[in-house]
Amino acid sequence: MAAWYAFADLFLSRLDAEAAHGLALGALKSGLLPADRRPDPPSLAVQVWGRTLPNPVGLAAGFDKNAEVPDAMLAVGFGSVEIGSVTPRPQEGNPRPRLFRLPEDRGVINRMGFPGQGLEAVRARLAARARRGFVGVNVGANKDTTDRAADYVAGCAALASYADYLVCNVSSPNTPGLRNLQGRAQLGDLLKRVQDAIARHPVPLVVKIAPDATDDDLDDIVAVCRELAMDGIIVGNTTLSRPDTLRSARRGEAGGLSGAPLAALSTEVLRRTAMRVERQFPLVGCGGIGSGADAYAKIRAGATLVQLYSMMVYEGPPLVRRIKEELAALLARDGFGSVREAVGADL
Ligand code: FNR
Repeated sequence: MAAWYAFADLFLSRLDAEAAHGLALGALKSGLLPADRRPDPPSLAVQVWGRTLPNPVGLAAGFDKNAEVPDAMLAVGFGSVEIGSVTPRPQEGNPRPRLFRLPEDRGVINRMGFPGQGLEAVRARLAARARRGFVGVNVGANKDTTDRAADYVAGCAALASYADYLVCNVSSPNTPGLRNLQGRAQLGDLLKRVQDAIARHPVPLVVKIAPDATDDDLDDIVAVCRELAMDGIIVGNTTLSRPDTLRSARRGEAGGLSGAPLAALSTEVLRRTAMRVERQFPLVGCGGIGSGADAYAKIRAGATLVQLYSMMVYEGPPLVRRIKEELAALLARDGFGSVREAVGADL
């Protein structure tokens, strides 16, 4: 199996990053990828939102924007899979190229701008699939919409009955103005409208924020989420910042940076979020996870679940098993019998 991946990797790493992603999706859809049927270490089982997941390691949004391969990604060994971001109407996104590898930095820059088939195509796919595993649906706004909040309402209302949790993504840096939705009044209004719209479907509702949030931003975001009794926060999306340490040729591309260069920043913002949330609801840590130690750092900083995307670009599906085994070993080393015991240990 390792040789197969090495071959595929050689081939994919020479391709334009978006073309490689298309090929990977094609392989997943055709069932070419072997499923990992080994059971997860029992210490990784985690309770969240009234459900028990086999492990806390999820696939972040953006990989499967149109809900084409949620079951294949669960079979890879993820404990949860988040599809989207889904916009109400189909749209092209930004002109290509818009996805860049930063290989020397183990990073990625993207300025995709929510290309996608729209919520009707996603709804039809989710409706046709047998419900299994834990699949979240992440929604966004069309670029040319006049009422952004209405787009979140439309996405959540249409997809709530197919989702194990819903995410309002107000933190993509690639749709101009979208991040303004993180402001106190706008966020409160948006989330309240969404809550009202899905009142008949009691599905956990979380918000995904930017790792560029300042302490003042976090005060506002957490205050709104606590007031509205939200179910969680994902920390977070890609960053507009560019650490001085970046070496790759593409480091100057516009867009959001993810992968290894984002790990420390996103864990720190997660920690600051957790300090404010005071365990009122679970947090999801996302940004730069490429090892069990990275996942463990996020859990100790307050995350109940973690997610990743970019490091899969470099390591492929075997990464998921490796992270799970390393995480289980770290929990055991430190005397934790479960993920839950380690959540927030560093706070
Ligand atoms: C993303 N991400 C993302 N997030 C989101 O909420 N909606 C989206 O549509 C996308 N699209 C997207 C595309 C690409 C190509 C990348 C690399 C990322 C952000 C992603 O879910 C995650 O928050 C960040 O990438 C940080 O995690 P990693 O990639 O460092 O593990």
